[in-house]
Amino acid sequence: MIRNVTAAAARTDKGVPADPGFGVYVHWPFCLSKCPYCDFNSHVRGAAIDEARYLAAFRGEIAHRAGLAPGRIVRSVFFGGGTPSLMRPQTVQGVIDAISAAWRLEPDAEITLEANPTSVEAGRFRGYRAAGVNRLSIGVQALSDADLKTLGRKHTVAEALAAVALAASLFPRFSFDLIYGRPGQGEAEWRDELARALDHVGDHVSLYQLTIEPDTIFERLRDAGKLQLPDEDLSLALFEATREATEARGLPAYEVSNHARPGGESRHNLVYWRYGEYAGVGPGAHGRLITAKGRLAQETERHPEMWLTQVEAEGHGLVESVALSREEQGDEFLLMGLRLSEGVDPRAFEKLTGRDIDPARLQSLVEDGFLKRDERGRIRVTAMGAPLLDTVVADVAA
Ligand SMILES: C[S@@+](CC[C@H](N)C(=O)[O-])C[C@H]1O[C@@H](n2cnc3c(N)ncnc32)[C@H](O)[C@@H]1O
Ligand code: SF4
Repeated sequence: MIRNVTAAAARTDKGVPADPGFGVYVHWPFCLSKCPYCDFNSHVRGAAIDEARYLAAFRGEIAHRAGLAPGRIVRSVFFGGGTPSLMRPQTVQGVIDAISAAWRLEPDAEITLEANPTSVEAGRFRGYRAAGVNRLSIGVQALSDADLKTLGRKHTVAEALAAVALAASLFPRFSFDLIYGRPGQGEAEWRDELARALDHVGDHVSLYQLTIEPDTIFERLRDAGKLQLPDEDLSLALFEATREATEARGLPAYEVSNHARPGGESRHNLVYWRYGEYAGVGPGAHGRLITAKGRLAQETERHPEMWLTQVEAEGHGLVESVALSREEQGDEFLLMGLRLSEGVDPRAFEKLTGRDIDPARLQSLVEDGFLKRDERGRIRVTAMGAPLLDTVVADVAA
């Protein structure tokens, strides 16, 4: 059983916490409409959602996970989606209450909610703040009305910026997301858009390069030759322009797509990337819990109504809960940790797996310029390796 400590405690020599912490992820699986690029577990329903029923099911799942992992101190809670800003503030409040009854919340626990910037949802922001949410993450996606239309978004740039301003006035912390590498977008246009966006930034911004996901409308359009997407050179130029601009404004990348002022990093995402422990509740949520059986990889039923029925019948929505081998944990540790600019501590890998990272493989990636070892012995991906992260990680983990 792991021992949790507060965020401020138990730091290693250069400020990377020894204990990655414990987080709770809550999935709200509904959206007003489906964006053509998105493959998240999100569903559109014609009828109203019975939130009281969902809240009861969330309570059931939270109690179930607390039974498996009792006594934890929660560093972060993240309401993700789908569109959690379609939840009533009372439902959000009920979930936060259930989490603090099941475990103990750190006094400065980060409680984030993902919000879409339509005016209907922006009107609820006050209610979320009163419910205990202290960080809002807003899906702005683009600062061009024409591109918002292409992305299937239901809000305008003006609405998005108004939502950002409202979040800035109500929440101690906020972030927003943009997608770049959009159809037809050139480097100069992205540089200009990003510069404008950074005028509105708080302590954090997520900048995702558009990925064409399987079984999406964008995949079909691309395959039909109807999406003009950046080639490899332009993708790299956009990635580098992103790093340059955010760094110049004091929000360097701390992860592939995430940029923060020092101290503004998302604590919740750091729990994942530092390979901490987290409970996932709601349809299609993932979790990693450390129990007497080992580190369990958990996954719940994805379909919202089936998840609801299962939780009501069985007290949980899990469809998978398997102990990971040491080998698998080592792979996950590297996949997560090498996304971070701080890199990974090879001693932590050794503790998890009982073996060293393959020295020959490591050496060859260092010699090729994709990885480096810093003065503390941590392994990091270099600027040259960053755009090729998945390949580099697959190579180290192999
Ligand atoms: C769960 S989603 C969004 C939350 C919220 N529903 C919204 O759309 O604003 C989290 C983020 O992932 C990003 N995202 C989703 N699909 C993507 C894709 N195919 N390529 C790049 N980024 C994507 C978007 O920036 C989005 O804000
Ligand atoms: S991007 Fe957000 S709003 Fe659009 S379908 Fe995905 S989760 Fe829903």
